[in-house]
Amino acid sequence: MSEKVRIYEVGPRDGLQNEAAIIPTSQKIALIDLLSRAGFEKIEATSFVSPRWVPQLADAADVMAGIERLTGVDYGVLVPNLKGAEQALQAGADEIAIFASASEGFSQKNINCSIRDSLLRFEPVMALAKTVGIPVRGYVSCIVACPYDGAVEPGAVVDVALALHDMGCYEISLGDTIGAGRPESIARVLDAVLAHFPAGQLAGHFHDTCDRALDNVRTALAMGLRTFDSAVGGLGGCPYAPGARGNVSTAALNALLLAAGYETGIDQQIVEEAERFVAGLLAAERAPSIAHSHHIVQEVR
Ligand code: HMG
Ligand code: MG
Repeated sequence: MSEKVRIYEVGPRDGLQNEAAIIPTSQKIALIDLLSRAGFEKIEATSFVSPRWVPQLADAADVMAGIERLTGVDYGVLVPNLKGAEQALQAGADEIAIFASASEGFSQKNINCSIRDSLLRFEPVMALAKTVGIPVRGYVSCIVACPYDGAVEPGAVVDVALALHDMGCYEISLGDTIGAGRPESIARVLDAVLAHFPAGQLAGHFHDTCDRALDNVRTALAMGLRTFDSAVGGLGGCPYAPGARGNVSTAALNALLLAAGYETGIDQQIVEEAERFVAGLLAAERAPSIAHSHHIVQEVR
């Protein structure tokens, strides 16, 4: 039997958080319901962050209440603090994800505090998660470069990854937030992180700003990683990381993995159907301005 690679679908969170238009809640629910049928074990459905910071996902509780939960699918959500974690649990999230940056500039701009303070903020989140027995995933952002501070040293990534792991995160997702990575720089940071972690505890979260995400996936695969985050239709970015374009496209990632002989369990036809759904959704939301829609289509490409 061929070896399994897990695809963690993050489009409903990482994708829709960065859309200029506010997508109607019913459409977000329809997208997640469609993705649920594609075979993902894990879907990041939304985030419980400040609605003033990310108005696009202010309907997180309604999305969680509206989706059809399929057996075998874990619906995760991103949380920045205890308040978000409490809301996530109330909404019935199957797992939560916390996120810290390897660079100070991004930490300040994204969550309004230093790296150290963000880690302190996560302690009560971890305590709550432990009490209720819910798994926590940890993201490290800016593993190669930061939109504010420039190049990031692998040692800084290792420090944050270890801190998240020591707090109890079951998996560390390594985020090339602005897609600055190339196979060489990704290999350099993975080398450093793999000196401290088994590959099975890591995930690759590659944005595709410079069309390098698939090359970076190949590099990470060769180095032993077997979990990758992706977004349907290549949606995504981060509102506080200028230039961050979409996550690697789920259809492209799945095609790459299948062609390389891995098993993913993902139905490519349903993913493509979900891509068309997203394209239609965005076209409808962007219809009022031709200039605007042209700009975004390029971003989502
Ligand atoms: P702050 O303004 O410093 O926080 O924001 P605060 O504690 O002073 O609270 C301000 C207001 O927000 C208060 O409301 C709080 O109650 C409320 P007010 O009293 O003024 O009405 N608030 C909340 N409301 C709902 N849910 C919450 C919450 N927390 C506070 N959880 C804060 C600090 C962290 C809250 C804010 O900066 C924030 O929400 N940031 C999130 C930004 C974000 O979501 N970025 C995108 C996700 S990260 C990413 O995309 C990268 C990733 O994909 C990996 C990669 O690619 O590298 C994960
Ligand atoms: Mg991201």
